[in-house]
Amino acid sequence: MPKAKVKNSLLPAPDARSLLRWYDRHRRDLPWRAKPGKRPDPYHVWLSEIMLQQTTVPTVGRYYREFTARWPSIHDLAAADIDDVMTAWAGLGYYRRARLLHECARIVVSEYGGKFPADEAALRRLPGIGAYTSAAIAAIAFGKRANVIDGNVDRIMARLYRLSQPIQKMKAEIRNKAAELLPSARHGDYAQALMDLGATVCKPRNPNCQACPWRKSCGAYAAGEVDRFPVQGKRKVKPVRRAIMFWLMDRQGRVWVRRRPPDGLLGGMMEIPSSPWLEQPMPELASVRSVAPGRANWRLLPGEIRHTFTHFDLYIKVAVARGAMAGADGMWADRTKMARLAMPSIMKKVIVWAEARGEAG
Ligand code: ADE
Repeated sequence: MPKAKVKNSLLPAPDARSLLRWYDRHRRDLPWRAKPGKRPDPYHVWLSEIMLQQTTVPTVGRYYREFTARWPSIHDLAAADIDDVMTAWAGLGYYRRARLLHECARIVVSEYGGKFPADEAALRRLPGIGAYTSAAIAAIAFGKRANVIDGNVDRIMARLYRLSQPIQKMKAEIRNKAAELLPSARHGDYAQALMDLGATVCKPRNPNCQACPWRKSCGAYAAGEVDRFPVQGKRKVKPVRRAIMFWLMDRQGRVWVRRRPPDGLLGGMMEIPSSPWLEQPMPELASVRSVAPGRANWRLLPGEIRHTFTHFDLYIKVAVARGAMAGADGMWADRTKMARLAMPSIMKKVIVWAEARGEAG
């Protein structure tokens, strides 16, 4: 039963202090998070924020531990070989982030003596650091009063204030509302409290309103309409691209791989050579043979692989052949060593798929 609509002006304003009290009791124990009362390490905060930009908390945990064990300081990371960084990043996706991470580490070492600048504007000038990340680092690492807006904050504001339009159309409103709520101290805790509230209580689905410290201030809750917010925009249909990948093996069972161009999707990562990824019907093998590595007797495997990227789905067919010389644009990779190459998940998927079909033996 929907409750009578209540104007937000009749509800008590959300109070940063009650959120901070909730955080003190319910904060998540995350590997990159400083323990209560401990000073955060800006290197840890920055590294985790870059990793978390497009990847979930559970996935990031393992990578964060590996990176900090292998490169305990920003000096170590700046001195690392970019190929090692890319390889360690493999599986996190959005590989441009790894390149920019390394670039950023080098600049912080060369221009700032290894110490991150503390203010948002200076942080934002560093590679890989945008509006969200500069605010998050300024607040969490340096305790600055920064308005940290991520998807959690969008959703929380949309519900608190029953925002009538999809989030994309409400960005300025959300920013203003969130700014009004900022506390006068504990800015880092407050930013993380909002993240935790969004991740564990004010979740996209099945929010646990009974556990929410802001329940009494929430317009959507008061109206019994939490599930209506945030209002959804029209969903776009994801485009589909299609490609044939060429699995070439030599007599020793090595596979021909090459490096992708440095910029663009999966920039600088290793790949199984492929026809262009196009929004067209699956190409005929005959029509893409000219882009295959070397001249060989290609045979298409039955079936297709699907891989989902943010902006499109990729359907892949795999052509297999045995051959010797494959040209200059690539290298033979011993399959036992392939795991050590900077291979994105999509390529690992292709390898596992082809091997499962007995083609890689
Ligand atoms: N998502 C992005 N940054 C985060 C952080 N510092 N803690 C938890 N979740 C996050």
